[in-house]
Amino acid sequence: MTNLFLDTLAGKAVPRPPFWFMRQAGRYLPEYREIRAQANGFLDLCYTPERAARVTLQPIERFQADAAILFSDILVIPHAMGQTVDFVEGTGPKLDPIQSSRDLALLDPGKTLEKLAPVFETVRLVRAGLPDDIALIGFSGAPWTVATYMIEGGSTRDFNTVKSWAISNRRSFAIMLDLVVESTVMYLKAQVDAGAQALQIFDTWASAVPASDFEDWVINPTARIVLALKSHAPDVPIIGFARGIGSRLPDYIHRTGIDAVGLDSSVSLAEAANNIQPICPVQGNLDPAYLLSGGVEMERAAHEVLEAMSGGPFVFNLAHGINKDTPPAHVERLAEIVKNWGLSK
Ligand code: CP3
Repeated sequence: MTNLFLDTLAGKAVPRPPFWFMRQAGRYLPEYREIRAQANGFLDLCYTPERAARVTLQPIERFQADAAILFSDILVIPHAMGQTVDFVEGTGPKLDPIQSSRDLALLDPGKTLEKLAPVFETVRLVRAGLPDDIALIGFSGAPWTVATYMIEGGSTRDFNTVKSWAISNRRSFAIMLDLVVESTVMYLKAQVDAGAQALQIFDTWASAVPASDFEDWVINPTARIVLALKSHAPDVPIIGFARGIGSRLPDYIHRTGIDAVGLDSSVSLAEAANNIQPICPVQGNLDPAYLLSGGVEMERAAHEVLEAMSGGPFVFNLAHGINKDTPPAHVERLAEIVKNWGLSK
């Protein structure tokens, strides 16, 4: 049975590039909003396997992506460790921020598997509902990105609180990253055991890390997760997505041990084809603003990405998540463009 997505990540030749879209399940879809309205909040949706499985499968039913991504969130890890996590309508995540080593001492990775059991049940339900040619991707946040929310207490523009805390409390911050690594390893291993066939590690805020701390805050914690997963499930490919790190990408790929890399739209197609694709399979990198706009500009930009990247192992995706105001028709059109790629040649 061919599976375009898994074959591509394994370096095999495929008839056309596989595709999926980051945040393909979400508020831009009316069928998502309907299920979301029935849940008692966002975390309740993540922890109700039947509903989470349905929203995972919605984009597959609508536009037949080559991979489904588990519906969950990167912030279930702090929640499982005992931190208060809430998703406030319209303002995003709100956490009781970690401010002292006393707060840190209250975090307990030991209950990760028990608390996140519903997520693993979602993975089983989704895998059972997918045909063999569509892959199921599991995911987590990278420790740095998860830590930004744990210390800032929510989203931030400047990362001043987390960065100054990490600099002034180096030992405590290292302990905190260790706790997140420990919990994340259990979370990802259990996703694999339940049926996830590939994993993506989201380091959405990696670009905020000073070069002098990149090794300690980004490379090493990610490398430890990759190493632990490789000893558990050596054949499950891991995609690293460290947004906005530009010239640090080759180092990030080599030293974390990831199998493939997600690219944001600051990486030019020439740079991607000449300098990144020779190292490992790449995924990306149409800016979601083109998808939001649609029309001929989107078609041109999508063809440009396909043309530039199709000479090597490539998974078509966006540069980051779908904007919530995106018309579903644009997403359907983009899916059609990728599926037809190569057929006319
Ligand atoms: O379809 C998918 O991609 C799978 C599900 C998924 C979600 N979040 C669902 C979600 C994935 C892979 C994530 C990852 C995630 N979560 C990241 C990394 C990737 C990225 O987008 O940069 C981050 C930073 C988070 C943390 C997070 N979760 C924030 C900042 C927010 C609020 C912002 C917003 O869009 O509202 C969320 C909430 C969230 N996670 C939603 C969804 C569909 C929207 C919440 C809702 O339905 O009310």
